[in-house]
Amino acid sequence: MLSRKMIRTSTFKNNLIKRFVPSSILYALPPIGLICLYFYCHSFAPFFSTITHHSSLSASVPAEKGKAYDNGCDYSIGKWVRDNRAPLYNGTTCKITKSQNCIVNGRPDSNYLHWRWKPSECHLSNFEPNTFLKLINNMHIAFVGDSLSRNQIESLICLLSTASKPKRVRHLGSRKWYFPSHNANLSFYWSPFLVRGVQRKNRGPIYNTMYLDHVNERWARDIDQMDLIVLSFGHWFMVPSIYYEGESIIGCFKCHDLKFNYTDIGIYVAMRKALRTTLNSIIERKVVKGNGNYVIVRTFSPSHFEGGWDKGGTCSKSEPYENGEKKLEEMDAEIRSIEIEEVKNAKSKAEQLGFNLEVLDITKLALLRPDGHAGAYMNPFPFANGIPKYVQNDCVHWCLPGPIDTWNEIFLEIMKKGKNHPHK
Ligand SMILES: *[C@@H]1O[C@H](CO)[C@@H](O)[C@H](O)[C@H]1NC(C)=O
Ligand SMILES: *[C@@H]1O[C@H](CO)[C@@H](O)[C@H](O)[C@H]1NC(C)=O
Ligand SMILES: *[C@@H]1O[C@H](CO)[C@@H](O)[C@H](O)[C@H]1NC(C)=O
Repeated sequence: MLSRKMIRTSTFKNNLIKRFVPSSILYALPPIGLICLYFYCHSFAPFFSTITHHSSLSASVPAEKGKAYDNGCDYSIGKWVRDNRAPLYNGTTCKITKSQNCIVNGRPDSNYLHWRWKPSECHLSNFEPNTFLKLINNMHIAFVGDSLSRNQIESLICLLSTASKPKRVRHLGSRKWYFPSHNANLSFYWSPFLVRGVQRKNRGPIYNTMYLDHVNERWARDIDQMDLIVLSFGHWFMVPSIYYEGESIIGCFKCHDLKFNYTDIGIYVAMRKALRTTLNSIIERKVVKGNGNYVIVRTFSPSHFEGGWDKGGTCSKSEPYENGEKKLEEMDAEIRSIEIEEVKNAKSKAEQLGFNLEVLDITKLALLRPDGHAGAYMNPFPFANGIPKYVQNDCVHWCLPGPIDTWNEIFLEIMKKGKNHPHK
């Protein structure tokens, strides 16, 4: 799949074109660029770089509050250091979503591939696919979330494929990979709110509808077949939305845009409720079935549009931020705190009932990687014919391979530490 000729050609062409395109050129995302084909979802509309709205109902939470890892090393604190090792995969042993396949799309620089996350308190090992596969022997691991959840599971599949070849399995409601060598299954369930809802679409409705007190059955109906669930969410909450609890509308977000006469309760209240509903539903159902195992909440993945997403925002930095250069703040900090708090709240209940609830806290380390997004290389050879008037930039999803692989290295550490390894 990866052709050397393609790489050479692109490097050649791109050397002729400045990577940092003059700001006079209008870069724009389509105002509602939302193409959603069942599991395959490009979404740009919801991706604002910042949200300044703060709901009066949401408790304000200090940025640094909340430690994700109770025992042992806190993998979320550290720095990116240079590292010359090559990535474990390059797409020859796995299928990479086209818009994240940056090398094949002609991204000319490879600097972004040569950084390693160095936690302050300990060493983070390279990903060992065989160790991971042993740990998930006879298990079904489900990723539930949006296109960033898919981004992470694709990285994981690519990492694992270097050791063992998975088979794609048909399953209604998910994408599924089966590793016969270890009788292990990995699946991805599209569910951007975690709870039940209807996404906004290009052709309308122009807003999301969410039922904050009902978990989305699309994935939840399979809960009793899942041994480990990796939950994540975020970006789809940032477009105009209407929120239900029971039969009634309890508020909306960007109500003004909707011209609806409901209270604007902001995204934070809704996200907290959605996560709480989800965690409670898993706990209740797992307990009834008596097969409680593992739930991991992966924290919010920040985006890096320089300038607004709608003002020609790009992510043109080619190196990580240095320590202290970029602070975790505003929306990124707030969402992460909500996630950590909700996990903490549910944790004691979950542990009494016999299963592990953990946070995979990647927000800070991901925040330091503005260079890791697909940017203009979400499309093949964006500058092949000179500099176009409009260049779509994806500063939300991550290149594969890329810094998102680190998330799975930490995921592996969490699995290794798990005291009560689930066995069927
Ligand atoms: C991709 O990785 C495989 C396996 O490590 C290697 O044999 C191949 O040369 C690589 N291809 C490129 C273009 O780097
Ligand atoms: C994984 O999926 C395969 C194929 O659908 C199935 O035969 C197997 O029992 C599953 N294993 C686990 C542990 O879920
Ligand atoms: C909006 O709701 C408020 C309070 O329920 C009401 O007083 C007001 O008349 C409503 N406005 C419109 C335009 O419906």
